[in-house]
Parts: sequence; C-alpha cells; structure tokens
Amino acid sequence: MALKKILIIGASGQIGSELALKLRELYGNENVIASDIKEGGEELMQSGPFEIADATDKDRIEQLVAEYKITDIYLMAAMLSATAERIPMKAWELNMDSLFIILNLAKENKIKKVFWPSSIAVFGPSTPKESTPQTTIMEPSTVYGISKQTGERWCEYYFNKFGVDVRSIRYPGIISYKTLPGGGTTDYAIEIFHEALKSGEYTSFLKEDTGLPMMYMDDAIKATVELMEAPPEKVKVRSSYNLAAMTFTPQELATEIKKHIPEFKLNYDPDYRQEIANSWPSSINDNSARNDWGWDHEYDLAKLTEKMLSGLRDEQQ
Ligand code: SER
Repeated sequence: MALKKILIIGASGQIGSELALKLRELYGNENVIASDIKEGGEELMQSGPFEIADATDKDRIEQLVAEYKITDIYLMAAMLSATAERIPMKAWELNMDSLFIILNLAKENKIKKVFWPSSIAVFGPSTPKESTPQTTIMEPSTVYGISKQTGERWCEYYFNKFGVDVRSIRYPGIISYKTLPGGGTTDYAIEIFHEALKSGEYTSFLKEDTGLPMMYMDDAIKATVELMEAPPEKVKVRSSYNLAAMTFTPQELATEIKKHIPEFKLNYDPDYRQEIANSWPSSINDNSARNDWGWDHEYDLAKLTEKMLSGLRDEQQ
C-alpha cells in the first residue's frame, strides 16, 4: 500500500486537535503533519510534526504538500457561525479561499484525498426542522451556513468534473472537553459543563427549549475516520453527509447535569445566537451515512454528560 501522508489544516482547533492525535495513532506520528496559524496543546505539539500555516496562504500550503509529499488533506480551519455573523467578509474569505486551495491541489493530482467539514448550518428556516432529510430545501440564513452550503456545491462539482476524491460530513454541534471551540452557536453546550463544575451555575445564550443536533467528539472523530477509510464506491454523497447522534435542549442538558450536580442552576439570557439556532434543524435524518458506509453512533446524552464531567474533573486535578 502506498504510504499515507496526512496534512491537517486547523489542527489546533476543537476538532482538528483530537483528529490529529487519532490519525497519528492510526497512521504513525511522523505521517500526520499538523498545521495551524497558532500552536496547539502540548500533546499535539509533542507527538509529531507541526507547522505554522495560514489556511488561505496558497504558497505555504503548496510548499508543505511538496515538502512532506502529502497524499491526504483534512481542512479543519473555519470561522464558525457566531463569529462569522460579526465579520462576514473575513469568514467568507477564510472558509472559501482555503477550500479552493485544497480542491485545486487535488484537481492537479498533487494530493489524492480531501476531507472537508460541512455543518447543520447549511440548512435554513425553510428546511423541515425535524428529522431533516439528506436532500431537502437548503436556504441557509447565516454567513457561516452560506459558506458551507457553497462549499458543498463546489465539492460535488470537483468530484463530478475532475474526479476529486472529496469527502464531507455535516457535523452537528460537537461536544468535547479537551480543546474549546471558538465562536459557535452550539458552544453553550460545552461552556455549561465548565461552569457547572466551577461555579455551579450557568447562563445560557439560547432559550430553554432550543433543541439542536449534537454529538460527542469521539463519535465525530470515528465518523471522520470511517468515511475517509470507506471504499470510494460506498461514498455516494459527494456534497456532504448528514450525521446525527442526539438532540437536546439547554433545559434537557441541565436536567442531565443535575443528576451528577444536584445544586446546578441554569439561567437564560438569549442573545443574537438565538436567531442562528432558530434557523437550524432540531434533528437530523442520517440514514444515507448509516446505509452507505455503516455509520453508527455510540454516545447518547447520558453517556456524553458522564464523559464531559469526568474528563473535566480529571483535567482540573
Ligand atoms: N458548532 C457549529 C456552530 O455552532 C455548527 O457547525 O457554529
């Protein structure tokens, strides 16, 4: 088998940092080059090669691909929904320019395989809210959603026109304790755990009954690895796959946390992020992923809560 050499762009971020460690475990530390505009956590920095790189710097990315003889790229750098509403043009530039650099490298046969994350943000207010199908009305109303929806169209186009082996997942809100997310609408579901342990109280920027699709990090990483390992004929969707594990509201999450911390108190003070959340589905139908390449999740709300609390407690010690 030809040697796999992986470049992760955005490896210091919430998903990238854990993905990098998993890929190093699977394919060997020296075969997974982590890169980001900023350094990452200690484990990431010490377990294998790391390069400072801006995802929109075409020359730098091309140089890294040539230097390390990269075969696969995971483009995890992106500006998330809440931040993107504040600086739309910067978000568009980062989310789109970085994708074109990678798609064109694949088109020119300089790399073999691409992973690019999409999001539930591709859906909008006119999309069916419950059990949102793989193929449905998509009229995203956020800057982030518009960039991800556009990116999906380009991924499919590059596959159809140029045979680019690009694979993608529409991630729901990803919950983890190792690296904090930055600027997302689902971030409340992570902050809540930090505050529950620290002060026993949290003020949610989403209303109590706002149900959103969520997933524990280990499931997101498992899905990413499995999709990238799937034989090409099983990857029937080249825009991006719906992927689901659970749906919960801030209130339901608080109820689960109270089983471990009975005195925990949740307050509500919705802000501009409420409108973003209102435009997204509350649950996702991911039958295509389950049927095409055998996706199955492991974590439900109870298991996720246990893992988050024990993980954060261990880190605080
Ligand atoms: N977690 C992301 C966000 O809230 C959704 O893709 O922006």
